[in-house]
Amino acid sequence: MRAVTWQGKHEVSVESVPDPTIQAPTDAIVRVTSTGICGSDLHLIEPLAAFMDRGDVMGHETMGVVVEVGGQTGELRVGDRVVVPFQIACGSCFMCTQLLPTQCETTQVRDQGTGAALFGYSKLYGQVPGGQAEYLRVPQAQFTHIKVPEDLPDDRFVYLSDVLPTAWQGVRYADVPDGGSLVVLGLGPIGDMACRIAQHQGARVIGVDLVPERLARVRARGVEVVDLSEHEDDLGDAIREMTDGRGPDAVLDAVGMEAHGAPVTTLVQKAGGLLPDALAAPLIKNAGVDRLSALYSAIDIVRRGGTVSLSGVYGGAADPIPMMNVFDKQLQLRMGQSNVKRWAPEIMPLLLDGDPLGCDDFATDRVPLEDAPKMYDAFSNKRDGVVKVLLKP
Ligand SMILES: NC(=O)c1ccc[n+]([C@@H]2O[C@H](COP(=O)([O-])OP(=O)(O)OC[C@H]3O[C@@H](n4cnc5c(N)ncnc54)[C@H](O)[C@@H]3O)[C@@H](O)[C@H]2O)c1
Ligand SMILES: [Zn+2]
Ligand SMILES: [Zn+2]
Repeated sequence: MRAVTWQGKHEVSVESVPDPTIQAPTDAIVRVTSTGICGSDLHLIEPLAAFMDRGDVMGHETMGVVVEVGGQTGELRVGDRVVVPFQIACGSCFMCTQLLPTQCETTQVRDQGTGAALFGYSKLYGQVPGGQAEYLRVPQAQFTHIKVPEDLPDDRFVYLSDVLPTAWQGVRYADVPDGGSLVVLGLGPIGDMACRIAQHQGARVIGVDLVPERLARVRARGVEVVDLSEHEDDLGDAIREMTDGRGPDAVLDAVGMEAHGAPVTTLVQKAGGLLPDALAAPLIKNAGVDRLSALYSAIDIVRRGGTVSLSGVYGGAADPIPMMNVFDKQLQLRMGQSNVKRWAPEIMPLLLDGDPLGCDDFATDRVPLEDAPKMYDAFSNKRDGVVKVLLKP
């Protein structure tokens, strides 16, 4: 089959690789019909490159049709139309029953000290072949799927794999009080969708980014926006001015570790980039990964007693956190990979009853799998108005 493979820093290519096969009775094989490129994939071609091997199949936002099942996949049947959550989880361990499938004890990657295995997401998360391919092997398939109806387009459901539950968890963790306000930092797919969800739930939403097309896209849906490029040095003040001088009730960081802004630990990252993987991986894991400017903004902007919710992915063990501010402002911080199956039942009604979140038009680009390298480049460099890419194998 054809698949998008990692080849090196900022280099992916579409290659012919062996078709996946059933390896355990709990496996299923899905023929992929739509699969997204995520901001998280961009971390793999830069800061987390040391954890990838040439030829690794990328991708974790997948939907399609089941073409084969092992003997123990529960209710899942050949022919079912499914969305595949980005994390692999058993559904029956302690963590899964706590509604924390991202921490599944059956798939935890213990040799790396990380949580549940993820599709297409490096040695840190189990080096499981991903879904930017014609076929995907789904381990723990008895739980790792969401069945969706046949009569609506792929675009309506594909974001259940990641974008929707990630934005949903980000907004839930932000815990905006009734009639309260939320600032969303970063208006890529996750931030954009978070704005839509928070707005739908009645919050006052202010989005921040520096890419003109992304600001325009969110503004077009009636969300207030602030252009970071006009407020490089006074973002906090500008937002306090808009929020009674106090700051918003909550800030959702949908940027993560590759933020635009003053590089704090970029040196470590650069040093990591020059070393062979065996040396770079521990350096990156134990030190800081990259820039924390979005996190610092979030801590500055949020009102005293407010909540900072991190959807953006961070790494590194020695990234400095301004503890004095966090403590003095009495902030709550909540974060983590999204627990997809926890939120899917809450989101599903918004997909079945009309399309209030605008999923059908959310993708800016729908292209054949073979165009993946070109689209990785455009998405990563935020060129040509590319915000969300769906590959159609
Ligand atoms: N927690 C999860 O489960 C989960 C799931 C998916 C994605 N993510 C993470 O969410 C983040 C966003 O993903 P995405 O797909 O939307 O990617 P993206 O890279 O397209 O979006 C990031 C946006 O942030 C903007 N930005 C950069 N620096 C900024 C700053 N200092 N202030 C405000 N905006 C800034 C960029 O211009 C860009 O539009 C990534 O870190 C990704 O890894 C997390
Ligand atoms: Zn993702
Ligand atoms: Zn589990």
